[in-house]
Amino acid sequence: MIVLGIETSCDETAAAVVDGDGRILADEVLSQIDDHRPFGGIVPEVAARAHLELIDGIVDRAMGRAGVEFSDLDAVAATGGPGLIGGLLIGVMTAKAIATVRSMAFIAVNHLEGHALTARLTDGLDFPYLLLLVSGGHCQLLAVEGVGDYRRLGTTLDDALGEAFDKTAKMLGLGFPGGPEVEKAARSGDGSRFPLPRPMKGREGADFSFSGLKTRVRQTIEGLAQGDLEDRDVADLCASFQAAVEDVLADRTANAILTFRGLHPETSLSSPVLVVAGGVAANEAIRKRLKVLAAEKGFQFVAPPPNLCTDNAAMIAWAGVERLKLGMTDDFDFKARPRWPLDPDAPPAPGAGVKA
Ligand code: KG4
Ligand code: ZN
Repeated sequence: MIVLGIETSCDETAAAVVDGDGRILADEVLSQIDDHRPFGGIVPEVAARAHLELIDGIVDRAMGRAGVEFSDLDAVAATGGPGLIGGLLIGVMTAKAIATVRSMAFIAVNHLEGHALTARLTDGLDFPYLLLLVSGGHCQLLAVEGVGDYRRLGTTLDDALGEAFDKTAKMLGLGFPGGPEVEKAARSGDGSRFPLPRPMKGREGADFSFSGLKTRVRQTIEGLAQGDLEDRDVADLCASFQAAVEDVLADRTANAILTFRGLHPETSLSSPVLVVAGGVAANEAIRKRLKVLAAEKGFQFVAPPPNLCTDNAAMIAWAGVERLKLGMTDDFDFKARPRWPLDPDAPPAPGAGVKA
């Protein structure tokens, strides 16, 4: 079984080829970061135009690298949502066109499902497992119970965590995307210098909130700023921000671990697993903290390699493989969905950015 995957939901134009055994035959990602950098954030119209220009070339490149012909493919999977509608339409249309011309299956993949199933591609995990999904557009804790079967245990009430990293970086005059910049600056900083708040810590449940933290970062900068900030101030503030984020993630994830144990007592006794995925999961300090938490709670800890944590098409192709094995293909009347919750039974997220 061989599946071509296409990812265009945000600012990466990506195509990948993955086989039924989880071998990644090609994994091509073109980041549009340079197009968006002057704006300090992602501009939907700029993204849509770039996807349109790049999509054919990246599909060709992935097929070439994989050394396969279209006639070798069993299905084409594309991110069908959630995300920015312009990009989604381009990816879905491209996949449908290839599938129509070559008479093969079309599969619309939920972007969050792509992130959620990556740990099965990289580590061959069995269901169920607990997932912390932290990226630029989403911030959720989920019980991953099967393909297409997810239970949301917590979500953000305002910003996604990656967004909070990006905004903090912007306020400090660091580059975009902000996560890696804040992480780098934090390495030489003193995380105890600024007592930033830990929103939601100690509260019941597993929801998140980051807007208060962001506001306090801004106020702290305003309090410091007499002319330019010193490098030391930037480093200390980044370290303090990261320390606050680590505390919040550990607290919320600990609560979700309790809920997960209640839902899956048998798995919890034998071999429970905590997975972290999404762009923010590339952060070493966060990984380390979650690893310690998992060990304390008797959970195995799995974090896919950073290039499979940030947006990519291998995860979409792999979700396509998983779905194809179960006969879960889609009709050509599938419409791209800017909002597409993984758990339809969970109450709507109040404000989780473009990708709730
Ligand atoms: O998963 P992703 O590539 O795209 C979305 O689906 O959103 O995540 C991108 C986000 C950005 O907000 C970026 O700043 C953040 O992930 N990020 C990081 C790190 N690397 C990327 N945040 C913290 N530390 C990092 N090392
Ligand atoms: Zn993502």
